Amino acid sequence: HIPAQISCLRDYESYARQRMRTQDWAYFSTGAADELTLQDNLASFGRWGLWPAALSEFDQPSTRLTLHGQSMDYPILLAPVAYQRLAHPDGELASVLGAGAMGATSVISMQASHSFEEIAARAHAPLWAQWYWQTDRAFTVDLLRRLEAAGYAALMLTVDAAVNGVRNQEQRAGFSLPEGVDAVNLRGAPKQQVVLGAAGTSPLFASGLLDTAPTWEDLAWLVQNSPLPVWVKGVMRPRDAQRALDRGVAGIVVSNHGGRTLDGAPASVDVLAQVCQVVQGRVPVLMDGGIRRGTDVLKALALGATAVMIGRPYIYGLAAAGAAGVAHVLHILRAELEVAMALTGCNTLADIGPELLYRS
Ligand code: FNR
Repeated sequence: HIPAQISCLRDYESYARQRMRTQDWAYFSTGAADELTLQDNLASFGRWGLWPAALSEFDQPSTRLTLHGQSMDYPILLAPVAYQRLAHPDGELASVLGAGAMGATSVISMQASHSFEEIAARAHAPLWAQWYWQTDRAFTVDLLRRLEAAGYAALMLTVDAAVNGVRNQEQRAGFSLPEGVDAVNLRGAPKQQVVLGAAGTSPLFASGLLDTAPTWEDLAWLVQNSPLPVWVKGVMRPRDAQRALDRGVAGIVVSNHGGRTLDGAPASVDVLAQVCQVVQGRVPVLMDGGIRRGTDVLKALALGATAVMIGRPYIYGLAAAGAAGVAHVLHILRAELEVAMALTGCNTLADIGPELLYRS
């Protein structure tokens, strides 16, 4: 049931919050440390203005695009978000049902709380899988085969989280996974050691945790051995985009993990144009972080993104109203994008360019 008062993405937040344990709200909504990056992701869009167009002519206006040979009705995907059963009893199953109703592609977190196969069985729209580097080659090869067999169309290696960020808000709220919610797809994988070193030792560097962090060589291995095209998610520096291109990635996601890893990282939208300049259209570039309005989508596309992903907004839709909430969030954002295009005189996505922007 969707309350009539909900008319934009942010309206879902209070409903979602009421339906979650306090510690789960902290898990979903907060960012690392002082949340400088989390806040800047949201604030950065406000620093760009849009030029309105007068008396435009429209001829069969459309938001269609083709991403890697995959046709999409509009340039919005669902970003990978872990443990969705914390937000709703049906978790990822409800999310992909909502995405399917709207024809949107979902990227499923490797830390999903349902199996990749169960999720695929509910999907009516393409699925991609997000990947955290696994040190065990046999486990990796087996899981990659499972993904291919289940029909996943692409793999997205997350490259900005060698370790978790400093999650003070989660610590204060005492966040921990409840009984019955876990990363089911990682059962049987060697566990990452998350306990930092004892007092008097080097807390992270002596913990051994970084020994298992993926390297550029590991990315090259994955590109060569994955049956699915490999994207990288979490590229911010232009030179890292170049390194990823050199290793043959299929696409790049400009992202700072929604402000959950390095606090102080710039807003993703602020580095997007620099990354796109390096990429030169050789592969598609997605961005995420702080998209809450159709005008945000338009601004990201004007700065060079091929499409965007949303994270928290659809989780709030999921928590408040299940699959219908996820579909509604996508519908609202898509409708707002169309309004933004109409008012800036854009007939298709190809008309969206930097000339629409001014720095306010
Ligand atoms: C994430 N994100 C994430 N990314 C990833 O690659 N694997 C994951 O498992 C998760 N899990 C996750 C959990 C939660 C609670 C959040 C909020 C985010 C990051 C996510 O894919 C995306 O980059 C951001 O959420 C985008 O920012 P917005 O849209 O939330 O502002």
